[in-house]
Amino acid sequence: MSNVTFILKDQRKIVATADGRTLLQIALDGGVPIEHACGGNGFCTTCLCKVKEGAEHLSPKNDREEMMGLEGEDRLGCQAQVRGDVTVEVVEM
Ligand code: FES
Repeated sequence: MSNVTFILKDQRKIVATADGRTLLQIALDGGVPIEHACGGNGFCTTCLCKVKEGAEHLSPKNDREEMMGLEGEDRLGCQAQVRGDVTVEVVEM
């Protein structure tokens, strides 16, 4: 099990999860409001998250994220899989 901390504006919400789920799936499981206009298929960037801690506990950026030109701490919530404790900021579009 891992804990994902989501930061939204001035609020934090911690959601416990089994490893291998995506940030988007975990957020939705935990009732965290996060956009996902393309249905989690990696085409829209509305699920964008900025990783604050634990980037090493996420799957490497995949082709979809590379095609979107994401840099540094930016990840697509629907593509990044969790394998350990992570803290992310949900980017509002
Ligand atoms: S939900 Fe569209 S890119 Fe993640």
